[in-house]
Formats: sequence, structure tokens, C-alpha cells
Amino acid sequence: MDSVSKRYVVAGKEVIALDSLTIDFPERGIVVIAGPSGAGKTTLIRIISGLESPTSGSVFIDGLEISRLGAYELAWFRRKKIGFKPQDPVLIPQLTILENVALPLLFNFVDRDKAIQSAKELLDEVGLSARMDHKPAQLSGGEYERVCLAQTIIGSPPIVILDEPTAHLDLENSKKIASIIKRKQRETQSLFIVTTLEQSLIEGADKIFNLMNGRLVKVI
Ligand SMILES: Nc1ncnc2c1ncn2[C@@H]1O[C@H](COP(=O)(O)OP(=O)(O)O)[C@@H](O)[C@H]1O
Ligand SMILES: [Mg+2]
Repeated sequence: MDSVSKRYVVAGKEVIALDSLTIDFPERGIVVIAGPSGAGKTTLIRIISGLESPTSGSVFIDGLEISRLGAYELAWFRRKKIGFKPQDPVLIPQLTILENVALPLLFNFVDRDKAIQSAKELLDEVGLSARMDHKPAQLSGGEYERVCLAQTIIGSPPIVILDEPTAHLDLENSKKIASIIKRKQRETQSLFIVTTLEQSLIEGADKIFNLMNGRLVKVI
């Protein structure tokens, strides 16, 4: 991404969420976006995933400038390339855990039996096979977050973007999430972009971009 800025105007006042950011992401690996609350982390990853467009600057993925794609192309691109988990993801309350996890595959026109089978395997991997037939409301916070993670990575998208996957979790659950992320990244050789302050995730990162006030202050 090249000189990306995002400005909001709230009640006549300008808020600069991203201030001319230029970042080159690797093709694969785990990239952590760190920084205090309000630093611009969520804005940055929403722009990378095409959920928002920058006020100025450009974002290229696979040589395509995503902010110039039309609505249809962008939807197609996102479905094929990107798995995005917002900070407070919402599972569909009426569906079982298994159905929730299978959903992205069904949206991608995968055969129902195949989708359910993949969802079962993935739930097993994240240690939740016993919860398959439960509804989202019956899960603990750690289980809920693991289900959302499974839902995000199920189609093995080449780019997985996770906004604070461990924000509401205790140490033990955070470590579980971190180890799933690391294992899946190794397995799929994809790019994970994760905003977090979680030490166990930061330790496993290939690259850490530190943001402050919408600017890049440190790269490790
Ligand atoms: N939709 C919006 N409208 C106005 N200001 C926003 C909006 N989204 C984010 N901001 C502002 O942009 C800055 C960066 O926010 P955000 O990207 O959510 O930071 P972080 O995820 O690092 O906590 C903050 O000052 C926030 O208040
Ligand atoms: Mg945020």
C-alpha cells in the first residue's frame, strides 16, 4: 500500500485515522499490526480488505488496485482472496456452530456435504468437535472466538485478516488462538494480518508494524 490516508469528518472536525501510510506486506507469513487503541489498526485492515476506501493513496493486492474495483469485482475478489474477522464478529444465532463454520463455503458454491465435512474437520482441529451441534449463545468467549476463527479460515483464503482475535480472552484461550493461527499459517502458507497486543502472537510474528496516531512508528 502506497501513501494511504484516511480522514473522517466528525461534527465538523477532521480525524486523521491513517496518515500517509506506506507498507509492503510479504506474500505469506504472520504480520502483526500493533499499537494503542485509536492508533488506526482497524481502519488499516478494513481498507486492506476492501471494506472501506482510503481518502487518498492506493492499495494493491496481486497487482490489482482494490480501491478502483467496481462493486461486483470487489465482492468476487474478497470472496476468493480474503478472510476477514472483525473485532466483534457475529455468528448467526439460529444456526448451529457447524452450520456457521460451513457458511462461507456455501457462499462460495461448495457442495453442501463437502462444506459440512470440511467444517467438521476444522472444528475438530480447533478442539470444538463436541460443540458442533450447539448454538452460538451456548459457547464461552474463548470457544466463540475459535468458532469465528474457523469460519474465517475455512476456505483457506490466501489472505486472512483478523481484528484483535484475542481481545476479550484470558491468557490460556489467547494461547490457543495463537497456536491455531501459527499452525494454520504453516499449513496453508497464507498471509495472516492480525491486529493484537497479545504477546504469544507477537512472538510468533514474522513482521510487526507498530502504529501510533495513524503513522508507522516502528517495524520489527
Ligand atoms: N467511522 C469513523 N468515523 C470517525 N472516526 C473514526 C471512524 N473510525 C475510526 N475513527 C477514528 O480513527 C482513529 C483510528 O481508529 P481505529 O482504526 O478504530 O483504531 P484502533 O483499531 O487502532 O483502535 C480513532 O481516532 C477513531 O476515533
Ligand atoms: Mg481496532
